[in-house]
Amino acid sequence: METTTKPNIGSYDERVKGSPWALAEEELGYKPGSDINIAWYCTDRICNMGKAAKTAFIWEGMGGAEKRYTFNDLRLASNTFAAFLQGLGIKREERVCLFLDRIPELYLGFLGVLKAGAVAQPLFSAFGDESLLVRLENAQTTAVITQRKHVGKVRKLREKLPCLKYIIVVDDDGKKPLQEREVAFSLEQAKPVEDFKCADTKAESPSLLHYTSGTTGMPKGAQHVHYSLISQYLTAKWVLDLHDDDIYWCTADPGWVTGTSYGIIGPWSLGVTSCVLDVGFTSESWYQFIQKRRVTVWYSAPTAIRALMKAGDEAVKKHDLSSLRHLASVGEPLNSEAVTWSERVFGLPFHDSYWQTETGSIMISNYPGLKIKPGSMGKPFPGITATLLDLQTFEPFTEAGKIGLIAVKPGWPAMMRSYWNNEEVYKKKFRNGWYLTGDRATRDMDGYYWFVGRDDDIINTAGHLVSPFEVESALLEHPAVAESAVVSKPDEINMEVVKAFVTVKPGFIGNDDLTLEIMNFIRKKLSPLAMPQEIEYTPLLPKTRSGKIMRRVLKAKEWGQEIGDTSTLEND
Ligand code: PRX
Repeated sequence: METTTKPNIGSYDERVKGSPWALAEEELGYKPGSDINIAWYCTDRICNMGKAAKTAFIWEGMGGAEKRYTFNDLRLASNTFAAFLQGLGIKREERVCLFLDRIPELYLGFLGVLKAGAVAQPLFSAFGDESLLVRLENAQTTAVITQRKHVGKVRKLREKLPCLKYIIVVDDDGKKPLQEREVAFSLEQAKPVEDFKCADTKAESPSLLHYTSGTTGMPKGAQHVHYSLISQYLTAKWVLDLHDDDIYWCTADPGWVTGTSYGIIGPWSLGVTSCVLDVGFTSESWYQFIQKRRVTVWYSAPTAIRALMKAGDEAVKKHDLSSLRHLASVGEPLNSEAVTWSERVFGLPFHDSYWQTETGSIMISNYPGLKIKPGSMGKPFPGITATLLDLQTFEPFTEAGKIGLIAVKPGWPAMMRSYWNNEEVYKKKFRNGWYLTGDRATRDMDGYYWFVGRDDDIINTAGHLVSPFEVESALLEHPAVAESAVVSKPDEINMEVVKAFVTVKPGFIGNDDLTLEIMNFIRKKLSPLAMPQEIEYTPLLPKTRSGKIMRRVLKAKEWGQEIGDTSTLEND
């Protein structure tokens, strides 16, 4: 499995001296001030470069169902989607939500929304009604593109969403009548639109709204612009090392930023074939997919890698995975064992990469050709000025081994431009001219970053951020819950899972039946990931004298850590 492909990045040390964004603009033929539309770059431009007939997208669903699309098919499908949206009266910059499983319409519709000049708002199809409601309400979403399976969830919320003009169903079979404000659209039956005038968006035109969890308050919509393409194109080229003949597999759902930045925009702006597996995770189904599709570049996440490690080496040996040549990971700390394991079983190390919904593209990473230190996130991407800030003074420092806040100098192309309707919280993300990631790390003598942990209470479960506040708010809506505190608890596979401490109202008893009922309640309201894996009933929660619940105390107990300063505790 020795790879002979020359890394796109060439020498990291040389690249950090150059002007990478200007280089990316040049390669993309973009001139400052001219039009830039992500979907046009991912489809029309690639066709204009003589790759119209090249396979762009291989989709596999249940039972091996397969659909294939060339770059010309992508161009036509996105034209057709965009024309349909414009026909409905969807205007520039209106938010159009994609609430779909990983079916082809999710990917093609995403491009269509951008071509129409609207803002794409992808949301996990596993979201329950409460999670959906707060995000659609906050974004004042005009249209939701969904499928029969999920339309019921949106229907239920329609009356609470005055801005929502259309619910578009992509797989309507005519068996049940659609209701008010619902409209059917089938890509397969629609007449392909050969010529479509793509919206003449500019660098700063809004493109995407990705919701992410905060420590306090409701989820925030990180608003991105079309110029993000510059970062996403170059990071996909240099970090994921995508070459023209690659078969690339990004395992992330586009409800998550990885699934759009690197599941759609990165590979297609480079004219690279990308494949998607729309079936649940098993080691067998994943290895089989790699074998069958001859995947060469694989971008995944530590939780999945740990689950594969658990499935054992034998599972790997049963398959021919010799097509693989480059592996990368994102979303959570990648333990050094995972890197050494992958080297042993695949003959290739996973390259850890670090970034966020807000950053839009990879910030710190390992690169082909640069020495990997297993357990380290690597070094800042060329063109990214990252540093560590002192935890108290927010001043940058250079000492090796000292813990600081990871911060980045604003101005890279893919940086979010605001939190939707929440300028106040957006401003809080900056200190002393630095963007604060909210994560802590150390740096070694060679400039490698080592992740330490988050600087807040957010729970990272299987690479997905869950806000304790959101879960606590939902818990309070259950009739038995008087008060609750939600913290992370260590987990072998998912790194962290959600744990809730609950005090029950008089007349209720905290037993197994209630636990199951509450778990289900949260799963349906929020999502399976936000569902507490454990509920502990307690007569009292630790509080400060001013009455604020101290999650810190409960969390420390779960992690077997020192509790720290409890001088403000009311009831210890
Ligand atoms: O805490 C960091 C963790 O995931 C957070 C970002 O999550 P999200 O906005 O959902 O985006 C995830 C995909 C880009 C970060 O603030 N995180 C992400 N990558 C890593 C990581 N933690 C450790 N190591 C990583 N490589």
